Amino acid sequence: MERIRVNASRAYDVVIGSGILESIGAEMSSLIKGKRCVIIADDITNSIYGERVKRSICDAGFSVESFVFPHGEESKSAETFVDILEFLAEAKLNRADSIVALGGGVVGDITGFAAASFLRGIKFVQIPTTLLAAVDSSVGGKTAINLTAGKNLAGAFYQPSLVLCDTDIMRDLPEKIFADGMAEVIKYGAIRSTKVLALIKDGAHKNLDEIIAECVKIKRDVVSEDEFDTGLRQLLNFGHTPAHAIEKLSRYEISHGSAVAVGMCIMARAAEKLGMCDVGIYDEIKALCREFSLPTEVSYTAEELFSFAMSDKKRSAGYVTLVVPKVRGESVLHKVPEDEMKKFFALGTEV
Ligand SMILES: NC(=O)c1ccc[n+]([C@@H]2O[C@H](COP(=O)([O-])OP(=O)(O)OC[C@H]3O[C@@H](n4cnc5c(N)ncnc54)[C@H](O)[C@@H]3O)[C@@H](O)[C@H]2O)c1
Repeated sequence: MERIRVNASRAYDVVIGSGILESIGAEMSSLIKGKRCVIIADDITNSIYGERVKRSICDAGFSVESFVFPHGEESKSAETFVDILEFLAEAKLNRADSIVALGGGVVGDITGFAAASFLRGIKFVQIPTTLLAAVDSSVGGKTAINLTAGKNLAGAFYQPSLVLCDTDIMRDLPEKIFADGMAEVIKYGAIRSTKVLALIKDGAHKNLDEIIAECVKIKRDVVSEDEFDTGLRQLLNFGHTPAHAIEKLSRYEISHGSAVAVGMCIMARAAEKLGMCDVGIYDEIKALCREFSLPTEVSYTAEELFSFAMSDKKRSAGYVTLVVPKVRGESVLHKVPEDEMKKFFALGTEV
């Protein structure tokens, strides 16, 4: 078991290990004073892990209720958000009580935002159940819901009080959901870590615990330096600008991880053509994505991607910040006029 301390505006541990799910109650009892707890899950994560988590938290002396919503990105909505707040109010939670997010990035993001908003902030715990949530969304305190105009357009920076990651859950994931998480793992390798790239090549399943811990440490380091996303943290968005456009264009039929895989390929291919990065980086990213059957291209045109990306929130005064690979295991931020982004998308999607 590994305990990684994140020093953000609220300091907390990310506990990573095999078979640790049932220690959630004990972990929480040393951190949380209030005795009421609401577990928030989607129908799938609730059906697989709901009972075990509830029993552990009850055994630690908490009274526990569960709020369950239908799985899928469509649930990361203002409607579900308000339903959660109403449920917390009905359950009479006070500011000493807590909420537990049991699920992937959708559950984690909306639960975090509800925790930030309810009574102006109550404690919350993340139990990631997808690899994507384990390596990325459960750590760092970005919480959000989607609006009609786009993804993650409402939210808050709000850190959890604990993240508990049972790596056995990741081993039991359906292949497609595991692959989605691997897209974010490949991202960490491409932006900051030849070690992560080497661990993937040596065997993602064999090295899973170490890979998760490495990615969490990278996220911890980036977030400690730039919690509020004004600089360095934008590196974590490698591939995400085209990815958000792809998700939206597909009406969320294409998953976040798959969209990120395509987005990274677009950016790496364009960067290579523009001479901004070493030759071979695009091929390496593409090969790693293919190893996990992740898509590396989509049929949307550069024009379509550009127009959808323009509603993305990461624009300021006519400029966008793109994340561009430079050498193996290192990417850089590149601030360009909005129109320049179109050139990247054109070069990155050209056949
Ligand atoms: N906050 C952040 O920093 C951050 C970072 C990256 C991504 N995100 C967000 O995360 C979301 C994507 O996360 P995700 O890919 O985990 O999506 P998700 O939460 O929708 O999970 C994907 C699917 O897997 C199912 N599932 C979850 N755990 C399972 C398990 N153990 N076994 C079987 N099925 C399981 C879910 O029910 C869902 O159908 C997006 O909304 C994205 O914007 C947030």
